[in-house]
Amino acid sequence: MKNFEKRLNELYKLIEHHAKLYYDDDAPEISDFEYDALVKELKELEKNHPDLIRKDFLTNKVGGTVSELFAKVQHQTPMLSLDNVFNNEELENFFAKIAHEKNFTCEMKIDGLAVSLIYEDGIFIKGATRGNGQTGEDVTANLKLIESIPKKLINAPAGKLEVRGEVLMTLERFRAVNEVRRQRGENPFANPRNAAAGTLRQSEKNNYVIKQRGLDIFLYYIVDAQKFGITRQSNALKNLAAWGLPVQNAWEFCADLSSVENFISKWQIEREKLNYVTDGVVIKLDDLTQWPEIGATSHAPRWAVAYKYPPEEAKTKILDIEISVGRTGVLTPVAVLEPVRLAGTWVGRAGLHNADEIARKDIRVGDVVKVRKAAEIIPEVIEVDKSARTGSEEIFKMPERCPACSSEIVKIPGEVAYRCVNRASCPAQLKESIKYFASRDGMNIKGLGNTLAASLIKAGKIKNLSDIYKLKIDDWIGLEWTSINKGDKKTLRRVQISMAESIMEEIENSKSRPLVNLITALGIDEVGKNTAGILVGHFKNIDAIINADENELASIEGIGPIIARSVHEFFKSEENLNLIQEFRLAGLKMSDDTVPVSENRFENKTFVFTGTLSSMTRDEAGEKVKTLGGKVSNSISKKTNFLVAGDKTGSKLIKAEKFGVKILSENEFLEMIK
Ligand code: IVH
Repeated sequence: MKNFEKRLNELYKLIEHHAKLYYDDDAPEISDFEYDALVKELKELEKNHPDLIRKDFLTNKVGGTVSELFAKVQHQTPMLSLDNVFNNEELENFFAKIAHEKNFTCEMKIDGLAVSLIYEDGIFIKGATRGNGQTGEDVTANLKLIESIPKKLINAPAGKLEVRGEVLMTLERFRAVNEVRRQRGENPFANPRNAAAGTLRQSEKNNYVIKQRGLDIFLYYIVDAQKFGITRQSNALKNLAAWGLPVQNAWEFCADLSSVENFISKWQIEREKLNYVTDGVVIKLDDLTQWPEIGATSHAPRWAVAYKYPPEEAKTKILDIEISVGRTGVLTPVAVLEPVRLAGTWVGRAGLHNADEIARKDIRVGDVVKVRKAAEIIPEVIEVDKSARTGSEEIFKMPERCPACSSEIVKIPGEVAYRCVNRASCPAQLKESIKYFASRDGMNIKGLGNTLAASLIKAGKIKNLSDIYKLKIDDWIGLEWTSINKGDKKTLRRVQISMAESIMEEIENSKSRPLVNLITALGIDEVGKNTAGILVGHFKNIDAIINADENELASIEGIGPIIARSVHEFFKSEENLNLIQEFRLAGLKMSDDTVPVSENRFENKTFVFTGTLSSMTRDEAGEKVKTLGGKVSNSISKKTNFLVAGDKTGSKLIKAEKFGVKILSENEFLEMIK
């Protein structure tokens, strides 16, 4: 077999393997850029040897598969993919075919998963993934759990409207989700796209997982836009936004290719500031009336193209592997690097995730490695340059004792993580707990970060979280404060006192934080800000949460069995109950007293619901009424103020008419709660 033939077969195999990991398992092993490079190489070989092309191969169709978990949806208009270009020359060649055209829109290419949403008379009725482009998965129920998808549009056209966009996970959510996974000893998601795909394609039974993880969406495409009198993509984006659909801000109208190139280079840097991952720019011909004529190949349009940015990577050396101990005792290895420039900053550390990962990538101390700035705050090691090995590299071994407290380290079967067993008094765990307690979503105590937490523990001033509220001015004097170690003794003391006073004031102020902050700050496994909000919203005070049994907890919308167990276990512990008691004595808020005035608009109003609502369940509608201060009843009486009538109504309607109760359509009700 000739060399190119061999390589071609190899590429088919490699691409097939990595496509499966990407599309089916949501767990890729190589970066998108590496994958794209393989596809590019394949395309070039195919071009030179058309006789060897496998027409049915996945790169010659739209990627992605359809899971058995969901009902199938046939896309009326196929959901196409985009061709990629990697530099300005390729970009100009792409558009050379439509050279007479000017006017483009440039939008950031969002790294999420494509979905199609269908609205009927402005009401969200159905949504699907792209799947293989022809057939997608019906994920309507899961999409309804995404808050940023409006269930009802503003001034939307009558009849059917199909819009398309990208479901994504913001960097903030991604980091929080991965933090939880690490604490739990699970493998973190490789990137926000996998996290988003893995979340959206969960079985509906896991709806609490979807809610808790908090997905987002940006729309970028209106199917048959011309039907609505829209003739430009730039106007399509404006229309989407005007209907109340989320559209990213990172797009511009560009009157010619040179402004397109400016957009591309400007956003190569600017995109670092976005709170979601982008991997390129999508350039579309603005005049969409020409799209049908210009047409598409079997898998991608000819009126649009994706310019892919190169990944931010650099080579450096691993000087050491350190172990950091997390809030729940999980040990995370971190590579100490010879400092290297990456994406505009100096990088000295890289995350290694866990021991399995180190073994899989065969990472050793002394290795030359490729590092990449991905979605995690600290960069990650992608691969080892084995050709640079000298033989003196050291194989990494997890320590047998905790580096912070010398307690035993255990590996829980089925988990990837190693943990320090000393949850009660390991200083490293306590330090992380304090930091978490004082963080913005927690009690928001500014200044109480890494250094002070460590100093307080070292000086024996804090043994558990409630000690924070027992600190006196004197406890702070003589601590190591990084920012003030210079100057004569007298000045130092004066500065220390004034800093101590201001942090004491911060601590005092934190006592008035809402209950939801305290519940978050406790650091209960699985309970972040979102879940804490659900718990507080339901129970209104901490004692009700403490007394709730597992079944009651699990029956709350947005709380699943895992969270329920974790909450219940937390409040079963004597030690934790003592902690709560100490907080109570310190004067922290134990109940939810946040009822904004504007939320009382339904005071003294009673609602009854009948029939099926299309934009939400009756329970959800009832919740809405209650949060606005109203009451919900099951039966009509003279005291009923409103009957909200959905589809398939029954006897209630007749009764309401008899009693002269005002009858609202679903739309009228939606207007009232807006
Ligand atoms: S337009 C027919 N615009 O990239 C063209 N796609 O690689 C429809 N994507 O399937 C796509 N950001 O999932 C478009 N601003 C954007 C996008 C975008 C991300 C995704 C989309 C598409 C894939 C192609």
